[in-house]
Amino acid sequence: MEKIKVAVIGATGAVGQVFMWMLADHPWFEVDYITASAARVNQRYGSTVHWLLPFEMPHAIRDRTISEFSGETMKERGVKIVFSALPASVAAEAEPLLRDMGFYIFSNASAMRYHKNVPILIPETNLETLSLIEDQGYPEKGFVVTNANCVTTGLAMAVAPLRKFGIKQISLCSYQSVSGAGYPGLSSFDITDNCIPYIGGEEEKIEKEIKKILSFDPIVDAYCVRVPVMFGHLEAVWLTFEQEVSIEDVLKTWDEFREVPDLPSTPKLPVLYDGSNTFPQPKYAFWGTPKGMEVYTGRIKKRDNRIGFMLLVNNLVKGSAGGSIQNAEAFVQKYGLL
Ligand SMILES: NC(=O)c1ccc[n+]([C@@H]2O[C@H](COP(=O)([O-])OP(=O)(O)OC[C@H]3O[C@@H](n4cnc5c(N)ncnc54)[C@H](OP(=O)(O)O)[C@@H]3O)[C@@H](O)[C@H]2O)c1
Repeated sequence: MEKIKVAVIGATGAVGQVFMWMLADHPWFEVDYITASAARVNQRYGSTVHWLLPFEMPHAIRDRTISEFSGETMKERGVKIVFSALPASVAAEAEPLLRDMGFYIFSNASAMRYHKNVPILIPETNLETLSLIEDQGYPEKGFVVTNANCVTTGLAMAVAPLRKFGIKQISLCSYQSVSGAGYPGLSSFDITDNCIPYIGGEEEKIEKEIKKILSFDPIVDAYCVRVPVMFGHLEAVWLTFEQEVSIEDVLKTWDEFREVPDLPSTPKLPVLYDGSNTFPQPKYAFWGTPKGMEVYTGRIKKRDNRIGFMLLVNNLVKGSAGGSIQNAEAFVQKYGLL
């Protein structure tokens, strides 16, 4: 079977590296074109990238050459899908440009997340919103599909199957790893031996995005904290329900949350609960199959009509590049590009 040619733009950043790792041996997609900032054009990927992931760089990607940002060249080479890991300010210009040239863009940047016809897609939770690409003009035209902010993705996964109980309010505190700020990210002077109780724009994004993704309107209160951890965002969540819900009902609902699209990157158990007192921890961020795609929950508590729990999401995998790849798989499965 011939694979679909894809490009990764922003391939050297924290999210871009996960794209390169996950796409190195993908059954449907073949990376044909990669870009980074202008200073890296014509450089060998394996020599120029500052590899951050906690395992070896796949051999298949080391000798790739970084190309200049050129939609025309991508077109000539037969690229159909573009995975974007650009900073939001750069994406704001680049993504509409590529969309208007007819590319199918799957983006991690926040630049276009709040546009009316642009879905914030998580296949397990709101697959129906993929059809918004038709409102953007597909199949005659290109489109942009985004994925959520990484904290919101973990939250949406745990909350989506619980919506049936009626949720009035979500309160959360996040403990977010430094890889969430990209590379080089924060100065080591600021984060070593320290926590920073503010991440610009993050709390507002969570409130806005969870409402758009799950099409509901609870009160959302969030505090976001940067902690000295490399990978994985922990979240302490309290949900207030319209009536009392038992712990058993919540655990059963997560356990039964399996009727999700069968895609190469979909985990078998999207939300996995473990009753151990010390679960989950960021050191498990790359656990699971595929690695980093499962959301882990633990420490469940009940107070009247409120349920509390901890969750862990891999911010770089399920929370960004892996989520984007899964979105592109959902598109190919629905619209049959293969
Ligand atoms: N990190 C996370 O956990 C996470 C989670 C969800 C969403 N996101 C979003 O995903 C995007 C990428 O995040 P990241 O953490 O990977 O950022 P990053 O580490 O700063 O990487 C940015 C990438 O974009 C390239 N780039 C920067 N300026 C450019 C320009 N002017 N022209 C072309 N390429 C340029 C960089 O190339 P060079 O290496 O050559 O500079 C690098 O490849 C951001 O929009 C971010 O908000 C990140």
